[in-house]
Amino acid sequence: VLYLKGSEMLESVLVSKVLSHKAVESLRRKSFLSTEELSFDDWQGLFALAKATKIHGSSFLGEPMKGKTLALVFFNPSLRTRVSMTVAVQQLGGSAIPLEIGKGTWDLEHLSGVLMDGAKSEHVKEAIPVLSQYVDGIAVRCFPQQKDFNIDAQDEVLRSIAQYASVPVFNMESAFGHPMQALADMLTVSEVKGGFRKRKMVLTWANHPKALPHSVPNSFALATSQCGGDLWIVAPEGYALDPSVIKKCEKFAETMGSSVVVTTDRKKAYEGADIIYAKSWASRRDYGFPEREDRSQLKDWMVTDDVMKMTNDAKLMHCLPVRRNVVVADSVLDGPQSVVIQQAANRLHMQRALLASVWAGQ
Ligand code: CP
Repeated sequence: VLYLKGSEMLESVLVSKVLSHKAVESLRRKSFLSTEELSFDDWQGLFALAKATKIHGSSFLGEPMKGKTLALVFFNPSLRTRVSMTVAVQQLGGSAIPLEIGKGTWDLEHLSGVLMDGAKSEHVKEAIPVLSQYVDGIAVRCFPQQKDFNIDAQDEVLRSIAQYASVPVFNMESAFGHPMQALADMLTVSEVKGGFRKRKMVLTWANHPKALPHSVPNSFALATSQCGGDLWIVAPEGYALDPSVIKKCEKFAETMGSSVVVTTDRKKAYEGADIIYAKSWASRRDYGFPEREDRSQLKDWMVTDDVMKMTNDAKLMHCLPVRRNVVVADSVLDGPQSVVIQQAANRLHMQRALLASVWAGQ
């Protein structure tokens, strides 16, 4: 009891400090490439700021980005990330410049030592130092090539941009992680389940017509373990996530006193679940050869009412966009257990808290 009282007191001291500074001070002027960079206190601070702005409005954070410009560099399409990042910057008093690589700009090469006689006209070694002269931060969306798993796991495009930038760099979904999504995911869990301890948080593979990146499942798994939820990952044979990600989750879980279970047994996973997070991802076994993936036997890997009935009144989460009646049934998405809209709304609240912290006191 004394220990709990002590930790609650420490937490409330931390939260009041964050709220009075209107920033998580340890994030000042820092890049954000993965949630692994966040401490437990950073998570608590970001939740506190996001929740405060939900009560008091975005003006609670003031205008720490006044006179600052963030470049939003898109190699791939986006709805939520593009709009929520733009609005977050504007509400903090700054400006956002969207750049569509290869459309409004030159196509960019990121590999070293290549003969640039193809379609790519400019190297990140010039483009990113130049961009750093004009803007105060660079946010990047760069999906995987999906040819070689080990190459995608290196996150080379994001890492090369971070290497050559002299301003903070933000990951808006890269080949191997989507930390902005994970920020919103964890805020949503804390709101709908009142915390993480002893919450059974199930990441379930779901069917999809395409072989999708591992970025969202990787980040959800890592963030769940960082925050102290009991992580369950359920997927068919051949669809296991990267062992290095699972190892990191186990390490976080050990620190937090939580657990990690990886299984192919759906009944065991869904029973008693507090969260069902539906997501499809590519098979590592056939990575780079989607035509070899035979999903004809996997069509029943869809979140239906029968799945939700097995749970402990779980909430259904998905990062969106979602394929209705392939990944999740209409009745679940339209039903009271779905929190996907709240989850998407939280993208704005957590990104604004993060950006306010990076530019606090400027
Ligand atoms: N969830 C997500 O990142 O959505 P967008 O791809 O639309 O940005």
